[in-house]
Amino acid sequence: MSVVAIVLAAGRGERFGGDVPKGFTSLAGRSLLAHSVLALAASPEIDRVLPVVPVDLDARAKGCLAEFDGVEKALPPVVGGAERQDSMRAGLAAVPAGTAFVAVHDAARPLVPPSRVSAVVRAAREHGAALLAIPVRDTLKRAEAGRVVETPERAGFFAAQTPQVFRVELLREGLAKAEAQGRRASDDAALVEALGVPVHLVPGDPENLKITVPSDLAAAEAWLAGRRPEWEA
Ligand code: CTP
Ligand code: MG
Repeated sequence: MSVVAIVLAAGRGERFGGDVPKGFTSLAGRSLLAHSVLALAASPEIDRVLPVVPVDLDARAKGCLAEFDGVEKALPPVVGGAERQDSMRAGLAAVPAGTAFVAVHDAARPLVPPSRVSAVVRAAREHGAALLAIPVRDTLKRAEAGRVVETPERAGFFAAQTPQVFRVELLREGLAKAEAQGRRASDDAALVEALGVPVHLVPGDPENLKITVPSDLAAAEAWLAGRRPEWEA
């Protein structure tokens, strides 16, 4: 029943800017991708970690890949595609035969606590599909043309995080169905939801923030300054 973590780092990071793809940006002396690989590998529920990287890596980015040379669970990186779903497909195609579950994770979430990784894998083993999510704190407004249309009840709304973990055939089927319909999902769970399969929510962690713009990196530095990562303890 092996579990492979697919770590997506093939995006350019347009909103972040910077002179390397976002996954190769340094956070406290280590790339976002290396943080993610180490955090996933630190979960005993994860058997292998498969990085998905851009096609045109420069010398500096190649150097980042050496940061997890010593991680026995790490598989050789595969090349991603133009959009996130293309990169996920490339990772899914490269998981070793005999893989029962895949845990899809954004390299842009470098601080995922290994204990949360374990929790979401255990939920997927039980239910087939699970993701980390945290309750939305802000009041939500739905608007059109700059005017509020609705203030939905906040209770029941969650912000999705990664990893999102699936029985491998479920994700393959969800992806195939979306592609047959010319649909792009905003996350991997939505592909499985569209099959009518229930996806189980597991409490995420605010620390599992996504690095989207430069100020997010400052927030991540602050989290790191406050504690050592679980996998280093
Ligand atoms: N990703 C990927 N392949 C793509 C696009 C995104 O592997 N073609 C990955 C990113 O590397 C990132 C994760 O998906 O780890 C989440 O995407 P996002 O935060 O949007 O990253 P980018 O697409 O790189 O950033 P932007 O949208 O600002 O360009
Ligand atoms: Mg993107």
